[in-house]
Amino acid sequence: MQLDINSRIKLNNGVEIPYLGLGTYGISWKKEVDEAIHTAFNIGYRLIDTATAYGNEKEIGKAIKSGSIPREEIFITTKLDNSDHGYQSTFKAFDESLKKLDCDYIDLYLIHWPVRGRDESWKAMEELLGTDKCKAIGVSNYTINHLKELFENSSVKPSLNQIKFNPFVFQNELLNFCKNYEIYVEGYTPITRGKKFKHEGIKELSGKYEKPLHR
Ligand SMILES: NC(=O)c1ccc[n+]([C@@H]2O[C@H](COP(=O)([O-])OP(=O)(O)OC[C@H]3O[C@@H](n4cnc5c(N)ncnc54)[C@H](OP(=O)(O)O)[C@@H]3O)[C@@H](O)[C@H]2O)c1
Repeated sequence: MQLDINSRIKLNNGVEIPYLGLGTYGISWKKEVDEAIHTAFNIGYRLIDTATAYGNEKEIGKAIKSGSIPREEIFITTKLDNSDHGYQSTFKAFDESLKKLDCDYIDLYLIHWPVRGRDESWKAMEELLGTDKCKAIGVSNYTINHLKELFENSSVKPSLNQIKFNPFVFQNELLNFCKNYEIYVEGYTPITRGKKFKHEGIKELSGKYEKPLHR
């Protein structure tokens, strides 16, 4: 299959998500967020991945608003913070994210980490999914056991599991498990934060695809 910046796939609830997205971990100053978002939009990125834990939802909301891409063309993911777990607190955290991002809906809301209170949070997320404020719900950093536990407690499957995934962290068993249950796997740290750029295989691929490894 030909992959490009415009490629999209359908999640298990019919919502379309871009294949490639911009991660925003580690940027929170207005200037750098603006620059990252607008550069990404110009290249063709439409998925912006953030989290309450990144402390940049407000800046991202402003950057999106200041651009010319219509909201419906943009896919926003944000994540429930570890400190916000629980039934009521999930609603509160979600509304705060909406407010900071300054938008009417979030495309994908994820449980950031499988910490205590996650089952109660998931119940709240199921309810959010039934509103027009949230298009899809999912999890992040879930192992097979975490997913099995979630299936026991809920009939609503996550649409997506965001996990560390790259040639050096290739979680094949988890990938196949998710595929069997129609849970889309979204990889983070795809370029190993630059730490594996000296690996012969990576250097070879960089040459083959004419993608320089260093800026
Ligand atoms: N769900 C989770 O728990 C979780 C965990 C981690 C990440 N994520 C998401 O996934 C996104 C991407 O993951 P990531 O940031 O961990 O790792 P990544 O995409 O593998 O690496 C990005 C980092 O690599 C650095 N880098 C080094 N050399 C580079 C080069 N030649 N070209 C481009 N970048 C280079 C960049 O540093 P500079 O900062 O100097 O540009 C950048 O911060 C995050 O932003 C976040 O949205 C989610």
